[in-house]
Amino acid sequence: MRSLLIPAAMLLAASLPATPSLPSTPLPPAAALPPAAPLPQATHAAAGDAQDPLQPTGHWSEMSFGDAPLPPMGWNSWNAFHTRIDEAKLMGSARAIVATGLRDLGYRYINIDDGWWQKRRQPDGRMVVRTSIFPSAHAEPPEETSFRPLVDRLHSMQLRAGIYTDIGRNACAQGYPQADSLLPTGSVAEREVGSFDHVDQDLSLYFAEWGFDYIKVDGCGLNAYGEDKPAVKSGLFRAFPVYVVPDAINQTRVADIRDLYERVRDALMRIRPDGHFVFSICNWGTANVRAWGRDVGNLWRTSDDIEPRWSSMISNFDSVATRELYSGPGHWNDPDMLFVGHGDFDARHLTEARTHFALWAIEDAPLIIGYDLSRAPRSLLDIWGAAEIVAINQDKAGNQGVVAFTSDDAQIIVKQLSVRGDKAVVIVNRGSAPLHATLDAEHLKFSPTEPIQVRDLWTQRDLPAFTKQTSFSLGAHESVMLRVRGVPELRDGMYLSEMPARIYVAADGIHALEADPQIHRPVPLGTGTHGTGPRPALAGWGGPRADSTPYNQELRIRGTAYASGIGALANSRLQIKADAEFKRFSAQVGLDDSSLERSTKVRFEVYGDGRLLSQSPELKFDDPAFALNTDVAGIKVIEIVAREMGLGRAPTVVTWAAAALSP
Ligand code: GLA
Repeated sequence: MRSLLIPAAMLLAASLPATPSLPSTPLPPAAALPPAAPLPQATHAAAGDAQDPLQPTGHWSEMSFGDAPLPPMGWNSWNAFHTRIDEAKLMGSARAIVATGLRDLGYRYINIDDGWWQKRRQPDGRMVVRTSIFPSAHAEPPEETSFRPLVDRLHSMQLRAGIYTDIGRNACAQGYPQADSLLPTGSVAEREVGSFDHVDQDLSLYFAEWGFDYIKVDGCGLNAYGEDKPAVKSGLFRAFPVYVVPDAINQTRVADIRDLYERVRDALMRIRPDGHFVFSICNWGTANVRAWGRDVGNLWRTSDDIEPRWSSMISNFDSVATRELYSGPGHWNDPDMLFVGHGDFDARHLTEARTHFALWAIEDAPLIIGYDLSRAPRSLLDIWGAAEIVAINQDKAGNQGVVAFTSDDAQIIVKQLSVRGDKAVVIVNRGSAPLHATLDAEHLKFSPTEPIQVRDLWTQRDLPAFTKQTSFSLGAHESVMLRVRGVPELRDGMYLSEMPARIYVAADGIHALEADPQIHRPVPLGTGTHGTGPRPALAGWGGPRADSTPYNQELRIRGTAYASGIGALANSRLQIKADAEFKRFSAQVGLDDSSLERSTKVRFEVYGDGRLLSQSPELKFDDPAFALNTDVAGIKVIEIVAREMGLGRAPTVVTWAAAALSP
């Protein structure tokens, strides 16, 4: 089963010899290059790096496409109206987003979700808009419908327009219909409104002809139309092989799914060569998209659909909270749209609504409102409109918040802002009992002896400055969101874990994909407590982390714990966008005390623009940390590689403790 998960290019590469670049600077004594070690089979490797996943490329391998330098902000019809969307409702929210000032705060996208389509015209396959609900799309002849007038109207309001499709032949509301769903009509072929086999045709229509700016591409066509489905057996839909098995990564056709989404990306790049598009992948965190989404889309859902329930929100938050090294300008983890205004987050539950919004903001989640804004009360508008909180989400450095304290009850999340010494913090009480929380200077990586300035971002008031620590009393589900300014613990320099947006996971070192057990799993809405309960489902367990091992343990080498550093698996390669801003790279490296594999050795290598700059000796379990200290002046891309000598049976956990760059 594992071979299913390893791209063919990588299997081919496994037979090629490793060719590390030769060092041009003197190496430490133990530097003699060993005989070529067997190549690892990293499950995920960067798109552009087809061969040995550990081979440095010397250039920043992240692809740049689309127009999402900051997390997208706007409105989407789904959480507000489901398929009962219509033009009047959409324009009601569009007008309100302008009138309330939300547009000027950055909420620019007005996105149409499922329910807009009438059918796919036959025989030419042109998509037809349901003009009974979008009357401005009406045309003569009637099947020449066009969204252009609506898109033009939105553009004239300085808004942008988003459209929705599915990567398969049929879409979600068709596969999981509700009593009031408005579904496409006509023959089997006419009801195939998804873009499978029509990518170029549909995207040309949506982007070149109709002028949309944003597209969400759902994935139900790949999982809801298997041969055994009653609606398929009855002849309502054509069967489509089940590529996505949401709770079984071993049966999910990872490479095929990625390939389909890549075709959409490539079509968008062709149709909009100026890069004016946003591509939102919606396959609910399945198929290991949490690792490859960054190479394919501008945002990718990391979890199942959010529901207006506290536990669902927490579950979706957890699906991004440990993925801080996978997000950055142009590419964002997406825990799904906001549910502020509904259910546990409605105007009677403002504590929960604020916490939901604060968690999305600090994690650089897209801020997409899902509420009928034409009737939004002031109390909710004040949440979406909290300018100082939106500014944290939209900080140009694009660093996702990093978890500084974690437990099931309380978490502290810290986000490095673009100004050195400035950070945002959320302290959240996930539990239902009151919590006394202490924020330490160490959580912030600030000096404990210098004053730390604090601003409460909800009340927009400065709080008294503190040194060393301060504390907060939080009620059930309550959070506090702060902006703090202090003297960095590293007087000149930054920990790598303070710059997650500048790190690109080029190879994650994962041997075999496993589900991530650290995600809160709510009782399923549809089935309640029937069956045996939800199990870990989303792959990604073992990906590198900031200030944590890949398996959520504290970083520790031979008994010494480190609050700062990068935890990874052996046979990983991480790129760091240094942009010639730093002179020294330093780290204490070693096998982590939590490593299950204790028999293999690992060499830690540091490359600058493709050249080997320094490396450790081959280190074994329980060796003391080895100090790497390397001149990186003028280097644009640093690559740090943990190369395992032989492939261990169990994953080898390595730690780049206190890894830092200094000017
Ligand atoms: C899926 C998506 C949702 C929404 C619906 C529409 O469930 O995850 O965000 O688009 O489909 O049917």
